[in-house]
Amino acid sequence: MARRKAAVARGPFHGTPVFVDHAHGALITDVDGNVLIDLAAGIGVVNTGHTPEKLVKAIKGQADKLLHGSFNVTPYESYVALCERLNEKAPGKFPKKSFLANSGAEAVENAIKIARAHTGRPAVIAFEHAFHGRTFMAMTLTAKEKPYKTGFAPFNSDVYRAPFPYEYRGVRAETAYDGFAALAGRIGEDKIAAVIIEPVLGEGGFLPAPREFLEKLRLHCALNGIVLIADEIQSGFGRTGTLFASEQLGFIPDLILSAKGLAGGLPLSAVTGRAEIMDAPIEGGIGGTFGGNPLSVASALAVLDLLEDGVLFRRAAYLGLSIRKTLMEWKDRFPMIGDVRGLGPMLAFEFVKDGASKEPHPDAAKALVKFCYERGVVIMTAGTHGNCIRLLFPLVITDEQLSEAFAVLEAGLKSLRGF
Ligand SMILES: Cc1ncc(COP(=O)(O)O)c(C=O)c1O
Repeated sequence: MARRKAAVARGPFHGTPVFVDHAHGALITDVDGNVLIDLAAGIGVVNTGHTPEKLVKAIKGQADKLLHGSFNVTPYESYVALCERLNEKAPGKFPKKSFLANSGAEAVENAIKIARAHTGRPAVIAFEHAFHGRTFMAMTLTAKEKPYKTGFAPFNSDVYRAPFPYEYRGVRAETAYDGFAALAGRIGEDKIAAVIIEPVLGEGGFLPAPREFLEKLRLHCALNGIVLIADEIQSGFGRTGTLFASEQLGFIPDLILSAKGLAGGLPLSAVTGRAEIMDAPIEGGIGGTFGGNPLSVASALAVLDLLEDGVLFRRAAYLGLSIRKTLMEWKDRFPMIGDVRGLGPMLAFEFVKDGASKEPHPDAAKALVKFCYERGVVIMTAGTHGNCIRLLFPLVITDEQLSEAFAVLEAGLKSLRGF
């Protein structure tokens, strides 16, 4: 850590300040040989587990053949094959096309470029509590100021923010939609290129958008020629028990964004959506040196193969139900837990100082993270106030590993009594 402090910029934060040597399944081994149970999955990336044999084999096989071609110089078939599979799997029965990039933020940037090219309009609406990444447009679309935006102004123009439904804090679906519609009216619908929403907020605290809210958004955008973008970078690729959370919410966006779990640990992202919208940028208008790198694509194709039989989805759905039950029991026992929510196994709980004031209690979340990693369990915080604990375990985690990790979490909650 001393070397890290001397050599690496201060900016990147470590939720769990433990140096990893290797990892497999849901277990991480640090450089001292300590084994930790992973409930973070590298921020929801290794949904199919750390170093699954099938992925490692696909990546090694690809490494022998082609490391880099650059799709902009000499295309290769696997890029096309992955786009075909994403087009087939993304929600909506209409012709689709895809585009591959490197990171979630890059998918967001490209989706906005595509929507603007398609509509010829400037404005974009994002939501409260949103997290869309750290590049300039993605950061502008992100709601939380500290630490994501601190010191980085000025931001991009033509970005507006609408309320996200948050029942626990008094924002009902209806109120949120009314707020959105009023905002859209003020901007002028004919000026709005895109609305971008996380169907389940990630960094913002694992709030699923209610179906009726998404239905109204869908209709509003369809009637006004606005491109509706679902950012499923965190909620996608099995995280909620289906390939996309949108499937469970009856939501059919125009464009859907994948990253994180898409390539199971290698950098890759995708924009997938209506063919006529995807084709809006002129030839050469979107691209990049590394986007859709052959190693990442090989890994993503292996992820899709792993998910194909649905076994992992069923396991994820089962885990979601059983863990939600445990968290609800904890909510009854520990008054500090004000709310439990999520979709499938994408679950979080929110710490408050007391149930009446609902004042956020970020110190409790921080203390629980520390308690857990000191006892060999990796968890993460979330939420605009940093007062939520989110569970993002690899979906291949065993029952034994989960119950061991949950025993630590429970002991941590007990230790927080009177905190
Ligand atoms: C919903 C969502 N969108 C976008 C991003 C940005 O992805 P990346 O960190 O790969 O740029 C994230 C990352 O956490 C995310 O959760």
